Amino acid sequence: MISMVGQSGDKVVFVTSNPNKVLEVRGSLGEYGITFEHLNLRYPEIQSDSLHQIASASARYLYRRLKCHLFVEDSGIFVDSLNGFPGPYSSYVQKTIGNPGILKLMESVPCRGSRFESVVAYIKSADDLHLFSGIVEGSISKKMKGKEWGFDPIFIPLGSTQTYAEMGIEAKQRLSHRRAAIERLAIWMTRKVSKR
Ligand code: IMP
Repeated sequence: MISMVGQSGDKVVFVTSNPNKVLEVRGSLGEYGITFEHLNLRYPEIQSDSLHQIASASARYLYRRLKCHLFVEDSGIFVDSLNGFPGPYSSYVQKTIGNPGILKLMESVPCRGSRFESVVAYIKSADDLHLFSGIVEGSISKKMKGKEWGFDPIFIPLGSTQTYAEMGIEAKQRLSHRRAAIERLAIWMTRKVSKR
């Protein structure tokens, strides 16, 4: 079992106010025997066209405030026929027009390709920040299917006939964009530990 140990000897902290993310990240890191503390905190996010910049700025902001070893995760859904919209603005779009609004925008669009991207920013000190990203290609369903959170009811990963919401958390956890980013973090961490 690896505990991600911070400067004060405490475990590393995953800062998010989203319980779904905690569940998914705990499951994925758990497979590598890695544990973390969860801090349920909302924090301001910068506006940017890049998930990498948003995640980095959030991690730096939180590090300045909390002075501990931490990571954050930022995701976005990029729809091809909408030129990548909403991407980094996914949260605002989910809160305003939601999934029904996206399906309406795409009502008569035959090409439904999209991708989901996750970026994890892991910070150990002001000048020691690491980014890990994961992308899953897929498509936007014609109707909402399943009852999970966010865009899960409208995103169908490539190779599947089901939306993330229909496949359920365990199956999603095996192949999601977040899983891919977290797995990169886990592999990087376990390599570092084995080199000590
Ligand atoms: P953020 O990473 O919390 O900024 O997420 C941006 C938006 O995408 C929010 O509206 C989330 O609900 C949504 N979102 C992020 N990750 C997922 C996911 O894995 N499934 C469904 N929706 C997600």
